[in-house]
Amino acid sequence: MSPAAGRAGVVVLSTLPGDAVERLRAEHDVRYRDEDSQVPPGELPMLLAGADAVVVTLSQRVDEAFLDATGPQLKVAANVAVGYDNVDVAACRERGVVVTNTPGVLTDATADIAFALVLMTTRRLGEAEREVRTGRPWTWGIFHLIGVSVQGRTIGIIGPGAIGLATARRARAFGMDVLLSGRSAPDPDAVAELGARVVDLDTLLAESDVVSVHAPLGPQTRHLVDADALARMKPTAYLVNTARGPVVDEAALVAALDAGTIAGAGLDVYEDEPHVHPGLLARDDVVLLPHVGSATIETRTAMADLATDNVLAVLAGRDPLTPVRG
Ligand code: 8YV
Repeated sequence: MSPAAGRAGVVVLSTLPGDAVERLRAEHDVRYRDEDSQVPPGELPMLLAGADAVVVTLSQRVDEAFLDATGPQLKVAANVAVGYDNVDVAACRERGVVVTNTPGVLTDATADIAFALVLMTTRRLGEAEREVRTGRPWTWGIFHLIGVSVQGRTIGIIGPGAIGLATARRARAFGMDVLLSGRSAPDPDAVAELGARVVDLDTLLAESDVVSVHAPLGPQTRHLVDADALARMKPTAYLVNTARGPVVDEAALVAALDAGTIAGAGLDVYEDEPHVHPGLLARDDVVLLPHVGSATIETRTAMADLATDNVLAVLAGRDPLTPVRG
């Protein structure tokens, strides 16, 4: 890119809602790929070359090759996501590139989906919807699609950050008890408000009726929920994951479901998106969503706005609002 004097070159790699792109255009020269899909790898170098700022989503890896293709003038990579496992933060830091993410604005939307999965699994709602939609004959029956109540049961939150705690609040409102476990201590005010118990992971796995995963993906959390962890869960318990697929060992999960080690699972994320383990697809005790945790128009617009604010701040020489310090 060769932006006009006093302006920077900004590359936006996929469609953004709201007026984010207009706001960027008001101050800078923008190369906008207005397509809601992953960039074909062959097109990347041409799109990126010469950019001072890039706006990316989670399906785009920001690695050495990406940074080489962009060039040494790059100042900021704004991820339109709270998770940033797609970004090589160390490589960015080494090259002086600021990385930003979008925490906060997607907390409620994602917690809504986590709790939706709790209800969908415990009340067998995927199965129920399929029954009606496929025209399978049904009549009311006392045991017809009978599930279990969440009231009086226990939810275990792995990763009690903002989204984990927001999910716990929803669970409290539905009459559930709350266990919390994570690498850093949860906010004490939230623990008190939730009447929660902070426990180690093994206790959480052993005592929860629903285990909900909210830990970010990193070297320490890859396959945190593995065969051993699944074996510690109650055979009547459900696993929900709205964080990142690789936090759960998907092959081990399939094996645990096959063996009846746990009762079911609700997943919004997968180890190798958009691929879904074939062992999950055929199971009625599994609810599968296509990574829609933050997919409301309000939330996605707020994410695009925050990414834009971060880009504009860095290009103006100000501190970004939500830098990744990883
Ligand atoms: C987004 C997410 O859908 O923010 C995250 O980490 O997983 C979701 O909110 C996605 O990342 C958009 O890039």
